[in-house]
Amino acid sequence: MQFPSTLQLSIENFIQKYGLSHLKAARKDLSERYRIGKQKQELMQSELHRIAYLLTRMPATFAAISEVLKRVKIEAPHLSITSLLDLGAGPGTASWAAKLAFDQLTDICLLEQDSQLIKMGKELMEADSLFTSSPPRWQMADMTSTLLVEPSDMVIFSYSIGELPINSLSSIIEQVWQLTKGALVIVEPGTPKGFERIRLARIKLIELGCFFLAPCPHQNSCPMANGDWCHFSTRLARSSSHRLLKEGELGYEDEKFSYLVATKKQLASTKMRILRPPLKRSGHVHLKLCTAKGVQTPVISKKEKALYQRAKKANLGDPFSFDSADHDLE
Ligand SMILES: C[S@@+](CC[C@H](N)C(=O)[O-])C[C@H]1O[C@@H](n2cnc3c(N)ncnc32)[C@H](O)[C@@H]1O
Repeated sequence: MQFPSTLQLSIENFIQKYGLSHLKAARKDLSERYRIGKQKQELMQSELHRIAYLLTRMPATFAAISEVLKRVKIEAPHLSITSLLDLGAGPGTASWAAKLAFDQLTDICLLEQDSQLIKMGKELMEADSLFTSSPPRWQMADMTSTLLVEPSDMVIFSYSIGELPINSLSSIIEQVWQLTKGALVIVEPGTPKGFERIRLARIKLIELGCFFLAPCPHQNSCPMANGDWCHFSTRLARSSSHRLLKEGELGYEDEKFSYLVATKKQLASTKMRILRPPLKRSGHVHLKLCTAKGVQTPVISKKEKALYQRAKKANLGDPFSFDSADHDLE
């Protein structure tokens, strides 16, 4: 999904206010803070950091969450989403993506600890007609304390569980699961660290009796091993200001993300998930699949006509299945 042009214009107004060179320095500093994993209070410390986030990270997190919501709609087409709880909302990125993905979404509650991000996020939403008929509710709160919010059809943590203290993750997931009526969506950077957080949340969710919609095609323990991690990728166009701030030449960037969608009811029909871009060779397609029996790496030959055609068209993150039981998967 395209980053909304009206949102892009509102964000770009901030550049005039602060000037490019200050924002460039703030962007570099912010990415260094995330890279070395500063404590959450030290991440977005100034107004300039927050604006640098809006200009460079918000489009990327928007692209990742939009990709995940697209997958939810494909794999659970009847899931009705009228209410949303956006946890660690930042400037409201996931709420924008969800509002554009789900026509019937009218009740949005955003929870964020940083009052300045709330102010910016509110301004951005108030400037857009998308939210006029049902203005979202913003709440300044800390996710590590008791959440005073109503249950919602969908709850999203978009790039926010990574900032929670590791020892409170399990109790937060437990609390949030009780606030989830339909689906809980977690998205993190597609790094070993981001994936590790998701894996921990996954263990807790299994304990709580959830069903996975995506990417996991089963409720068994996660089969990723030996330093491997489950992650996907989405390509987003860079705006000219984004390019200037990052001093990058390319007109696009690839955002790598890890994610998990857990549902209250069994909705998934996917039995296998493609974990790496299929290697398409002449006469063969090599797949890496997550299955209930672990990670499997079948090679599909041209001789398996229909299967080969499907494998050739398949992409990273897609579900996959075999027509017959006789393919030599263990
Ligand atoms: C990387 S930003 C992600 C923002 C937004 N969800 C997005 O996808 O662009 C992480 C956000 O989580 C918020 N956050 C971190 N810990 C929090 C906590 N304990 N309670 C509430 N918000 C928190 C931060 O203030 C920050 O806005």
